[in-house]
Amino acid sequence: MTDDVLTADQIQAVRDRVATLMPQLRADLEALVRIPSVSAASFDQAEVARSAEAVAELLRAEGLEVEVVTEGGRPAVIGHIDGPEGAPTVTLYAHHDVQPPGDDADWDSAPFEPTERDGRLYGRGAADDKAGVLAHIAALRAHRGNLPVGVTVFVEGEEESGSPSLRTILERHGDRLAADAIVIADSGNWAVGTPALTTTLRGGIRVVVRVETLDHSVHSGMFGGAAPDALTALIKLLATLHDDEGDVAVQGLEVGEAADLDYDEARFRAESGLLDGVELIGTGSILSRLWNKPSITTIGMDVTSVAKASNTLAARAAAKVSMRLAPTQDPLAAFELLEQHLLDQAPWGAKVTVELEEHGSGFAADANGLLHDQARASFRDAWGVEPVDMGVGGSIPFISDFAARFPEAAIIVTGVEDPDTRAHGANESLHLEEFARVCEAEAIFLARVGAARA
Ligand code: BES
Ligand code: MN
Repeated sequence: MTDDVLTADQIQAVRDRVATLMPQLRADLEALVRIPSVSAASFDQAEVARSAEAVAELLRAEGLEVEVVTEGGRPAVIGHIDGPEGAPTVTLYAHHDVQPPGDDADWDSAPFEPTERDGRLYGRGAADDKAGVLAHIAALRAHRGNLPVGVTVFVEGEEESGSPSLRTILERHGDRLAADAIVIADSGNWAVGTPALTTTLRGGIRVVVRVETLDHSVHSGMFGGAAPDALTALIKLLATLHDDEGDVAVQGLEVGEAADLDYDEARFRAESGLLDGVELIGTGSILSRLWNKPSITTIGMDVTSVAKASNTLAARAAAKVSMRLAPTQDPLAAFELLEQHLLDQAPWGAKVTVELEEHGSGFAADANGLLHDQARASFRDAWGVEPVDMGVGGSIPFISDFAARFPEAAIIVTGVEDPDTRAHGANESLHLEEFARVCEAEAIFLARVGAARA
C-alpha cells in the first residue's frame, strides 16, 4: 500500500516511547476531565476558559508557541512548532469542550471525576474529545526534541455547540492552520481491536416546529370534539415524518452510497441497547441507514407536563427535531424540503411554523492519496491488524469548512471512540488500551510523513 519509509525497528521505537509516556498522558487526561468545560450557554463558561488554558499549558510545555483565541464564541487554542527545514506540516485538531453531563443519577461515578472500571476510564469528555487532545500531546511528546514535521495544533472550544465562531476563526487565523495533512481526532474506530479511517460523516439540521390551533387554551369538555388541540395536532404532524417502514418520509432528500462492511442486526442491537421486541426502523443495510441515509429524531418538546395537565385544549405546542443528512446533502436544501413537508402536512389547518436553529454539512473524503495511505499504514503498525474505511452517523460540520479552505490538504479523520463509548450519554468512557493504540498510531504517522519527504 505504502512504499514504506520506516523500518520495523523505527516503528517499534516509537511504540516503546509512547508506552513509557502513557501514565503521564493518563494523568494529564484526568486533569482535563476534571474541568467541566461544557460549551452550552447555560453552563459556567469560566470552566471552558479554564480548560482552554490547561490545554495551552500542555502545548507550551512541549515547546509550542501558543495563543488562546476567542472570536465571539468559546476560546480555541492554537499552537505551533516548526519542523525541520522543508519538512511537511501537519495540523492536529481536537475539541476541549464537552456535552452537558445530563442527570448525575444516571452515572455510575460522578461525570467529572475520572474513574477506571474494567479497562475503561469513565467521565464526560474522557473520550469525546479530551482523549483526542491527549493523542496530539502524545505524538508531540513521542518526538520531543526531534519532531519530524512542522506541527500546528488547533483545539476548539465549541464543537459540541455547532462551532458558531469557527468561520471567523478561520478568516482571522486560518493561515496558521494550513498544512499538508489535517488530522481530526474526533471520531473513532470500527470495534475495539479494529482501527478505522473515517471517510464519511453525516450532516445535520435542527429545527423548532411550533403548532397553534387556538387563540387561548379552553375547557376540553366545552370545546373538545370540535376544536383541535395543538398538542394532538403536533403529534399528528410529527407522525408524518416517517413512513410505515420507518424510513424518513420527507421527499427529495439525498441518499448516499451504502458502505460495505459486515454489520449484523445482533451487533447493532447489542451496541445500541435496543430492547427485546423493539423493531429496527428504516430499510436498506443497517450501515446505510446509519451513515448514508437521512434520519429524523424528535429531541425535545414544549408541552404541558403530565403532572400539570388539566382538562384543557392546549393552544400551542412545540417540538425540536433533529435531522441527520446524507454526507453530500446540502443542509439548507434539506431544510427547505423539511419545512415544506411540515407546512403541507399541517393537520386540520393548524398554524405551523418551522425555525431553522442549526445546520451543518456532512463530509465525504477523497481518501485515496499518499497521506491517507500513510495514516492507514500507521494504524496497521499500532494495532497489528488491517484497518478499515468506515462512515459515521454523527457530524463534525466544520470539516467541510476546512476542506473548502484547504483544498490541497489531506483530511484524516480518526479518533478514540469505540461502539461502547457512549459519547454524549451517561457513563461516557474511554477504552484505555485503544487509547494507547491511537496515541501510537498518531506518533507513527508523524514519523512516516516526515520520513517520506526527508
Ligand atoms: N465526536 C462527535 C462526532 C462523531 C459522532 C464522530 C459519532 C463519530 C461518531 C462530535 O463531537 C459531535 O458530537 N458532533 C455533533 C455535532 C453537532 C453539535 C453540530 C453531533 O454529531 O451531534
Ligand atoms: Mn467530538
